[in-house]
Amino acid sequence: MKLTGRTVLITGGTSGIGLELAAQLLARDNVVIVTGRDDKAIEAAKGRHPGLHAFRSDVGDADEIRRLHADVTARFPRLDTLVNNAGIMRNLKLAEDRSLEDVTREIDIDLSGPIRMVQQFLPHLQRSPEALIVMVSSGIAFVPFSIAPVYSAAKAGVRAYTRCLRTQLANGGVRVVELAPPGTETPLMKAEFATMDGARNMPVETLVRHAITGIETGKTDIRPGLSKVLSIAGRVAPDLVFNQMSKAAAA
Ligand SMILES: NC(=O)c1ccc[n+]([C@@H]2O[C@H](COP(=O)([O-])OP(=O)(O)OC[C@H]3O[C@@H](n4cnc5c(N)ncnc54)[C@H](OP(=O)(O)O)[C@@H]3O)[C@@H](O)[C@H]2O)c1
Repeated sequence: MKLTGRTVLITGGTSGIGLELAAQLLARDNVVIVTGRDDKAIEAAKGRHPGLHAFRSDVGDADEIRRLHADVTARFPRLDTLVNNAGIMRNLKLAEDRSLEDVTREIDIDLSGPIRMVQQFLPHLQRSPEALIVMVSSGIAFVPFSIAPVYSAAKAGVRAYTRCLRTQLANGGVRVVELAPPGTETPLMKAEFATMDGARNMPVETLVRHAITGIETGKTDIRPGLSKVLSIAGRVAPDLVFNQMSKAAAA
């Protein structure tokens, strides 16, 4: 599948992986539409990348997804690619006082968001002869990270859902790809995990090149760098790897 001449919707495309993917897809002659919650970030992204289309939309809000679907499909009826990328990741201490609404924010945004986006956009995508859905999970989908507990649960959920989706759509025209990034140099990593050793994080340009090459060469599971290691180690020695990662995070 060539990633050129397509119409691509990327949730959370105003920063980090989503923004870099938007830039590399624009350079390959795709129509690219991004979303985000912050008007200033949207304007900044459009300023940096003329030709980029953007809508303000919160993937954690079902009504906003309905509105986004109406707006995007009206303006871009040739939409054939959905990248479920928007996400947050928090360093959460579960014993701290926290409201019931707040504690599940990663579930709302990182897990319910992509599931609802697929539910809403799938009928439109199925009209395209060669549709593509990319689900952005994480290396942490293979081995949970104890300092990001709700994020770990959400990303394991994204992975489980993606496998089911791919199987259910196997005989249709929609290809389903899971991209599991390793630690990648983006604002998400710099914010909550700034004190951790960032030396092993992958440059975002490299990650996105892996993603595009992986899709174009027919991979359904793209696990660059450390994500590949975690996917294997998570099967072979899950407790050992989990405990080592927990110790490293606590150090
Ligand atoms: N960076 C890593 O090391 C890493 C590793 C594995 C997986 N991932 C995954 O990769 C994806 C992108 O992460 P990133 O590192 O590029 O993060 P980032 O730089 O923080 O960018 C996140 C993007 O998502 C948007 N976003 C957040 N919440 C949203 C919501 N409720 N509705 C719509 N847009 C929303 C943000 O814009 P607004 O805040 O303005 O809405 C921003 O455009 C996430 O799913 C993340 O879990 C990242």
